[in-house]
Formats: sequence, C-alpha cells, structure tokens
Amino acid sequence: MATRLFLHSTDPELTARMDPEVRRSIEQRQKTLKTALQSRLKRVPTITLEIGCGHGHFLTAYAERNPEEFCVGIDVNRRRVDRAVTKAERSQANNLWFLYAEAMEFLKFLPRTVKLGKIWILYPDPWPKKRHFKNRIIQEDFLGALAEVCRSSAHLHIKSDQAGFMEWTRELILASDEWRFCRGHAFPEGATTVFQTLTQGKAFEVTAKRT
Ligand SMILES: C[S@@+](CC[C@H](N)C(=O)[O-])C[C@H]1O[C@@H](n2cnc3c(N)ncnc32)[C@H](O)[C@@H]1O
Repeated sequence: MATRLFLHSTDPELTARMDPEVRRSIEQRQKTLKTALQSRLKRVPTITLEIGCGHGHFLTAYAERNPEEFCVGIDVNRRRVDRAVTKAERSQANNLWFLYAEAMEFLKFLPRTVKLGKIWILYPDPWPKKRHFKNRIIQEDFLGALAEVCRSSAHLHIKSDQAGFMEWTRELILASDEWRFCRGHAFPEGATTVFQTLTQGKAFEVTAKRT
C-alpha cells in the first residue's frame, strides 16, 4: 500500500491558504525537527542517511558493521519509526539515530555544518500510475536538494522492485548536472528489509555519485 501523502509544504503561498490549525501544526513539527537536528548533530560533520527507513532493519545492521559512520534513518510513518527506535535501543550500535521526519523537510532543516556522505533509498513507494508519478520521492527538485547538502564524493544508492520506477529514476539522474551513474559499484549487502521480503527480493539497483 502506498504511503499517505504527507503535508509538508513550505511554499508561502500555499501556506497562506491553509487552515490556520493545520499550518500551526506543520510549523510546530518543523520547529521540533530543526531543534532536534541542531542538538543531535552538533558535532557530526558527515552522516549516512536512509530515507524511508521503515522498521530500521537495514540501517541497524549497517550501523553495526560500519561504526565509523553516523547513521540517520528517517520515515514519515510514526509506527515504523517507533519500531526502528526499539531496534536501535536493542542494538550495540551507538552511531544510529532514527527519527520521524519527511525527506524534504529533513534536507531543509539539516544544519549546514552537516553533510551527507551516503544516502540509501530502499524500496521507495513506486506510485505506479501515471497520474501519481508526481508523488514519487525521486524528482528533479529532490535530487537537487540532496545534492546541495552532500559531500562532493557522496553516493546515492537506490533499490526498487519496480522496473518503471527505476527507469524514471535513471532518466532523472541522467538529466541531472549534479549526479552521475556509478557503474560497477557493488551494492553492499545488508539486512533484508520488510519490503525486500514482501517483493521476494526482486531488485533493480542504481548507484549515483555526486559530481
Ligand atoms: C515501501 S516502504 C519501504 C520501507 C523500507 N525501506 C523497506 O524496504 O522495508 C517506503 C517507506 O518510505 C516512507 N516514506 C515515503 N515518503 C517519504 C518521505 N517523503 N520522507 C520520508 N519517508 C518517506 C514510507 O513511510 C515507507 O515507510
């Protein structure tokens, strides 16, 4: 099932037309996110980010194997983030942080002292119908916003079971001035994610490098 659309607009015109109560709750959520990022990432120059981390299987295993990287997992589904937090608490890893956050808001409020070194996007919602393509996470704006907060050598790893979604992703990367394909880059094995299991491990993979 596709994720419910998440209201995150920071467009001032759209915001002005919103129900004041909705607007206040969005502003409050963004303020909380900004404060949390500033306080937790104060002394962290580079992070490994998983967007749409779900229950946290992948990133927990990854953080345990890569203690030198500070790993942050975000998701807009609170229930899944809660499960990921429990997993992190049970893990030995002290380089792991899961939080409830939407990707574009996270990128907007990430302190500019922090850069992304690696980004993982595993089995994102494919939104297979043409009229829903606009809801896909991989968009020109999104790739641009990611690139802005990345190290120059940053790697972006995307995995999906949907050929159409991956074709869309490849075309956007190809058209981008900020990302180029990283061919022959082995996709590191990690823990199996929930959606990887649901799709019986079917996977198309893309790795791109910040130019
Ligand atoms: C199909 S699930 C995959 C979850 C996990 N990566 C896996 O493989 O099991 C996609 C996840 O992305 C999250 N998501 C969708 N849009 C998002 C966004 N804009 N920012 C953060 N998370 C998002 C959803 O809540 C959902 O948990």
